[in-house]
Amino acid sequence: MPDQFGRVARDLRVSVTDRCNLRCTYCMPAEGLPWLAKPEMLTDEELLRIVGVFVGLGVRQVRLTGGEPLLRRSIVDVVAGIAALEPRPQIAMTTNGVGLERVAGRLADAGLDRVNVSLDTIDAETFTQLTRRDRLTDVEKGMAAAAEAGLTPVKVNAVAMRGVNDEAVADVLAWCLDRGYELRFIEQMPLDAQHAWDRESMVSAEEVRERLSERYTLTPLSSGERGSAPAERFLVDGGPATVGIIASVSEPFCAACDRTRLTADGQVRNCLFSEVETDLRGPLREGASDEELAGLIQGEMWRKKRGHGIGDPGFRQPDRPMSSIGG
Ligand code: 5AD
Ligand code: SF4
Repeated sequence: MPDQFGRVARDLRVSVTDRCNLRCTYCMPAEGLPWLAKPEMLTDEELLRIVGVFVGLGVRQVRLTGGEPLLRRSIVDVVAGIAALEPRPQIAMTTNGVGLERVAGRLADAGLDRVNVSLDTIDAETFTQLTRRDRLTDVEKGMAAAAEAGLTPVKVNAVAMRGVNDEAVADVLAWCLDRGYELRFIEQMPLDAQHAWDRESMVSAEEVRERLSERYTLTPLSSGERGSAPAERFLVDGGPATVGIIASVSEPFCAACDRTRLTADGQVRNCLFSEVETDLRGPLREGASDEELAGLIQGEMWRKKRGHGIGDPGFRQPDRPMSSIGG
């Protein structure tokens, strides 16, 4: 499934719901968002059929995201359905971890390989301010349960925000090192529902590196070890533990991108920042064949742009927020 610039999509991100049980300030307003109605969402059967078409087109890794993917009641069945595809793709999930303790074992049994848990702070008060919910303990228990269930390495995603958690990034690293979790910082991108992002207040990858270096020695891994992975990784104090820093905005990695996305309402997006998407739900419900769906997906990938263009004069933040695209 090539695009005009020779990139090949191997990694499909599937948003299984746009709902969330947290309200991270950099993501959505306190009152939440107008969620998709049930009939607008793909059923399990529709979702699995589309993922199967992607796998037929060469996708080798499927990442389930949201919103918060564990809020989809059938999530274990969705994982099992994907694990039954041929060839079986790697299956990962990006979750906020709140509901993970209860289902980690069942997810692993159904075929989930790994999880990324979003955790921006290990300070209870900051967590409650930032997510507008007092759930830090649940997240910690969820992560422990994931490690216990073998969903490893447990990766942690953190977004640094100025004046909120930027001074404590090394504390989060220390906490992850203690527990054997692999931490990655992600630069905040203009994908919030409120459109409040601005470049000046974004904490850059460079700043995170500097802060971490006050306490740890970071040695960059060679670029050969990076591939299409967006994180620049560093050995911490000589290794073997590593920390990743994802400079999506300040050092974009679009040239190596192997990702494509499916929303909970059945739209294919070739990029987080696309202004357009291709509808699969309509054609599917009108009886399209797998070949026809594959043709629509290939068409969407063919028009993938060279880069996201954040900072270009013509850049427009997409209408769809991160919470309904998936990470
Ligand atoms: N910029 C960067 N990362 C974000 N996330 C959510 N919104 C943004 C944003 N605007 C993160 C979440 C989660 C993953 C899905 O993306 O914290 O880890
Ligand atoms: Fe939920 Fe993730 Fe948005 Fe936080 S960032 S409100 S966990 S979707």
